[in-house]
Amino acid sequence: MDDSDRVRNDFTGDLAAAASLDALEAVRIKYLGRNGALTALMRQLGSLPAEQRRDYGARVNALKDEIAAALDARKAELARAALAARLAEERADPTLPVSAGASGRIHPISQTIDEIVAIFGEMGFVVAEGPHIEEDFYNFTALNIPPEHPARQEHDTFYLPERADGSRLVLRTHTSPVQIRTMLAQKPPLRIIVPGRTFRCDHDATHSPMFHQVEGLVIDRHSHMGHLKGCLIEFCRAFFGVDDLPVRFRPSYFPFTEPSAEVDIGCSREGGQLRIGAGSGWLEILGSGMVHPQVLRNCGIDPDEYQGFAFGMGIERVAMLKYGIPDLRIFYESDLRWLRHYGFLPLDIPSLVRGPLT
Ligand code: PHE
Repeated sequence: MDDSDRVRNDFTGDLAAAASLDALEAVRIKYLGRNGALTALMRQLGSLPAEQRRDYGARVNALKDEIAAALDARKAELARAALAARLAEERADPTLPVSAGASGRIHPISQTIDEIVAIFGEMGFVVAEGPHIEEDFYNFTALNIPPEHPARQEHDTFYLPERADGSRLVLRTHTSPVQIRTMLAQKPPLRIIVPGRTFRCDHDATHSPMFHQVEGLVIDRHSHMGHLKGCLIEFCRAFFGVDDLPVRFRPSYFPFTEPSAEVDIGCSREGGQLRIGAGSGWLEILGSGMVHPQVLRNCGIDPDEYQGFAFGMGIERVAMLKYGIPDLRIFYESDLRWLRHYGFLPLDIPSLVRGPLT
């Protein structure tokens, strides 16, 4: 047995013993590494008589190929085994029934977002998202709220510390910056719905410094105020589950829509009980309007060719109205007794086809 046979024998033993990818790598280094056994064999070439060198070199090279191929095959085998072990370990049976003891609840905010998305999803809207920490440009400037505009003060903005160039990032004060991000990134027609967190420096029974909004945006060639109205009336009736819910559009002002309208739904307050539906009262739940031509221009969309509408709504507010939740702050207190009372079962997944969302 010469040296190369000995190396082959040793290798066969080491290969069989390598039970993991790490161990296999150690074997590879031992034989094929820069200071490995094959390099050592090659070094002997110089000490051989000239007529044996050719033969010897060819044999060592063949051995090297043989070892490389065996390592590859073993590596594939180990990877397959590791995957199989992992699949077996992570096996889950989605058909198992929920165990009787399961006690988790879906938070009313999550449930309300799912309900809103289900209704607009049915109308062909797709969900879009954006960052919570936002550039001033997307939160204000591109929405036609230039520096010094009074709306900036009304937003009670949380600013981050100044950057080297003097500019400051903001915690987004509304979900409207996602309108801009979407219009800059995609070509119309657009139909998006944007649920997400928003932040304003304000805290009392009806305001929280962190709250949720859902934004809607439609851009195409022909959408008009009639579509805005039809879409939002339909939404209000589906969301509150009241087929003849009165819905009213009141002229309003937002810098990024023209004309703008606030949307109220009918209610009654008889006997101190708030009831959504016909009655003498009104409750404001939405801001909306036709997208301002300047906003379209800011996003590189030609307002002579395209138009559309947008709306924004506070999620806590509509959740409180729909589910009779009296105080806003309790939403964020993680009080288990409250969650058990107001939370939803995990299988209570909102969908229009399943029937009314109650
Ligand atoms: N962004 C507005 C707000 O936070 C709501 C809004 C959105 C109004 C879209 C009109 C159109 O009050």
